Amino acid sequence: MTSLNKEQERGQWGSKIGFILAAAGSAVGLGNLWKFPYMAGKNGGGAFVLVYIIILFLVGFTLMLAEITLGRHTQLSAIGAYRKIREKWAWVGGLGVIAGFLILSFYSVVGGWVLSYLFKALTGALHESNPEVLGSMFGQLISSTTTPIIFHAIFMALNIIIVFGGISGGIEKASKIMMPALFIMIILLAVRSVTLPGAAEGLKFLFVPKFSAISTSVVLDALGQVFFSLSLGMGCMITYGSYIDKDTNLIQSATAIPLIDTGVALLAGIATLPAVFAFGFEPAAGPGLMFVTLPAVFSQMPLGGLFAVIFFLLVLFAALTSSISLLEVCVAYVVDEWKWNRGKATTIMALIIFLVGIPASLSLGPWANIHILPGRGFFDTYDFIASNVLLPLGGLLLCIFVGWIWGTENAIKEATSDGKVPFSLASAWVFLIKYVGPLAIGIVFVRSFMALFS
Ligand code: PFF
Repeated sequence: MTSLNKEQERGQWGSKIGFILAAAGSAVGLGNLWKFPYMAGKNGGGAFVLVYIIILFLVGFTLMLAEITLGRHTQLSAIGAYRKIREKWAWVGGLGVIAGFLILSFYSVVGGWVLSYLFKALTGALHESNPEVLGSMFGQLISSTTTPIIFHAIFMALNIIIVFGGISGGIEKASKIMMPALFIMIILLAVRSVTLPGAAEGLKFLFVPKFSAISTSVVLDALGQVFFSLSLGMGCMITYGSYIDKDTNLIQSATAIPLIDTGVALLAGIATLPAVFAFGFEPAAGPGLMFVTLPAVFSQMPLGGLFAVIFFLLVLFAALTSSISLLEVCVAYVVDEWKWNRGKATTIMALIIFLVGIPASLSLGPWANIHILPGRGFFDTYDFIASNVLLPLGGLLLCIFVGWIWGTENAIKEATSDGKVPFSLASAWVFLIKYVGPLAIGIVFVRSFMALFS
């Protein structure tokens, strides 16, 4: 038997659409379905959406192209990619692996809650219209000791099964099934929501910006959300980019992925907020919007039980296609750097991530009094360090690296395969990656530190 050569061991996407679906799958996740609607709800609706879209165009597309291009050029995951171009920068990739590791350890805990809610929806246990009862149901789940850990374990096990299958046989295949299903389900829910009597109020809230509601904190929240939602700043798109073949046009991909991601975020807003308004709930309900307010909304709709099942299945799919990308960042590191085979790398990494996630789950219940950072337990500490520190820092360093160290000429040559791109587009991208990106991200980063000590 011949042993696998390097490329076979690393794997490659089987098709262009497979790559786009997998990368869009990474981007579309809890960030879109859970976070975007409540962030919009909290930040004045249309004002947030408008600022989000502006930042998406200025920073989102720019960084997406930079990450994918760096990955394809080096054909290596985060650390190797930086190292291949400039030895001394390898640690930046290392920050990304740590971020992925940390994000997955708490993301999987939330993924476990989603699984548990899917079971509740299937058994009819969510058929309850009183938000207070639903609130205490949610509180009880996340604060108990064993149940959330069991669901966290099942969620990680699903990740192992998919990532074990490799790039085209595991991640791509899973994304090709789950992503189209997700599109159909979210459109169905959005249609259901906007056809409810009184839904117009919700649509107005979401799409008519009140300019007076735009404040610094809205802008900063939107910037952080663009990062998390597009899976940027931690080398995830570098890793996914490293499995692309040389004739894929990266500019098209880097345009399609953020558009799909934003489309789903907006559809999630359309599926959620008009329904919330139609039934007289509070749009600024915060993180509980998905687990508390929405089930209450569903229970008052015709066919609500069915829509609750569809909704939590949709969220599970979205969470899974994102979590596998987080696991893949860690697995690719071990495969590339330590030369482990994929099976061993996947199982051991997932097991360690599962163990690190246990304190995150316990910190919402029995360990609530243990603080790691001031005022923050394990769950919030992981989230804060990864999302508010490591991702912006990773994004900032990526801009500097691609803009000033590797060089935009090299990047453009790689992105287009033939080096041809309209001059105005190229110069806009150069300006964005060299100046606008670092400045915008630098601001979020400074704010993160200020938030830590305030
Ligand atoms: N983009 C995912 C979401 O919106 O839920 C979360 C995520 C996945 C962040 C992968 C970072 C990442 F590398």
